[in-house]
Amino acid sequence: MPVLSYPRAGLPARVQIYEVGARDGLQNESTVLPTDVKVAFITRLVASGLSAVEATSFVSPKWVPQLGDASEVYAALPADGSVRFPVLVPNEAGLDRALAVGVKEVAVFASATETFAQRNLNRTIASSLAMFAPVVQRAIDAGCRVRGYVSMCFGDPWEGPVVPAQVVSVATRLMEFGCSELSIGDTIGVATPGHVVALLDALTEAGVGLGEIAVHFHDTYGQALANTLAALECGVTTVDSSAGGLGGCPYAKSATGNLATEDLVWMLHGLGIETGVDLDALVATSAWMASVLGRPSPSLVVRALGAANEK
Ligand code: HMG
Ligand code: MG
Repeated sequence: MPVLSYPRAGLPARVQIYEVGARDGLQNESTVLPTDVKVAFITRLVASGLSAVEATSFVSPKWVPQLGDASEVYAALPADGSVRFPVLVPNEAGLDRALAVGVKEVAVFASATETFAQRNLNRTIASSLAMFAPVVQRAIDAGCRVRGYVSMCFGDPWEGPVVPAQVVSVATRLMEFGCSELSIGDTIGVATPGHVVALLDALTEAGVGLGEIAVHFHDTYGQALANTLAALECGVTTVDSSAGGLGGCPYAKSATGNLATEDLVWMLHGLGIETGVDLDALVATSAWMASVLGRPSPSLVVRALGAANEK
């Protein structure tokens, strides 16, 4: 079933999809997949046309054993620069490991709330920012592009609603350190479109350009696509998503799957927005990963197209 394309004025002609399934997805699985399966997954994601594929995390393997083979996974990926393979790095030890295997793009990850900073990074917001500053500087000195994530930008399971000013103070510090992209994370999926626009307004007022902002929605409350459309209408052109809707955060149990890349692509192609993605190839990849994980994909588009292909 191909999607019919009806473009709308005021939306970008192309959207950069930043695929996080191999990282945000697999960090949350109770089973640790073999390295060759992770590499096959990433290889298939690239073959489906995704051009920015977050590959893994150089975090403490004691904290996230699922991605303990980060060096092996990264070393098995093509190094010709045709595809971006960013990785998560929390500290200088992680950066050393990443640089040792030739990583070109890293992401640090801060929290807008104190409780999540403590749970995810074992330190306060201030202390985590102090940890990131030399990571960002050294990564830039080594020629890397650096993304800064902020988590819990709309709500936090322990602290409740999060207001834009709380996000802006952390986000602007990350940009001052030298990050070239800011990803605003709705880690527990509670955002609604008006809240998204209010946060984007607050960030642009604080001097962060819309071209520097990516949106990272989780679909816990079914709002991820509506929130994405609101962000695109504001001028955002980079959207994080996860193949098959895999994902979550092991340090926030109420974080469920990310916006599924297939659901995103269906909407974008329906709006005539270019992504470079072959949706059938991506659906086949997510159906394969669902069979590896032994449960159906949470993506509605993967399910719908899978069923349509069986007819
Ligand atoms: P800590 O325990 O305070 O750190 O953890 P530490 O320095 O005391 O280190 C503990 C042990 O880990 C030591 O080993 C270190 O050497 C080792 P030991 O002496 O006990 O044998 N270690 C490392 N080993 C390898 N690589 C490293 C590394 N660092 C320390 N990089 C730390 C602090 C930051 C390390 C820890 O809290 C951590 O790794 N946290 C990561 C948690 C995580 O990955 N969460 C998920 C990603 S965030 C997310 O999903 C949200 C996002 O998707 C956006 C959104 O949705 O909002 C991005
Ligand atoms: Mg996430």
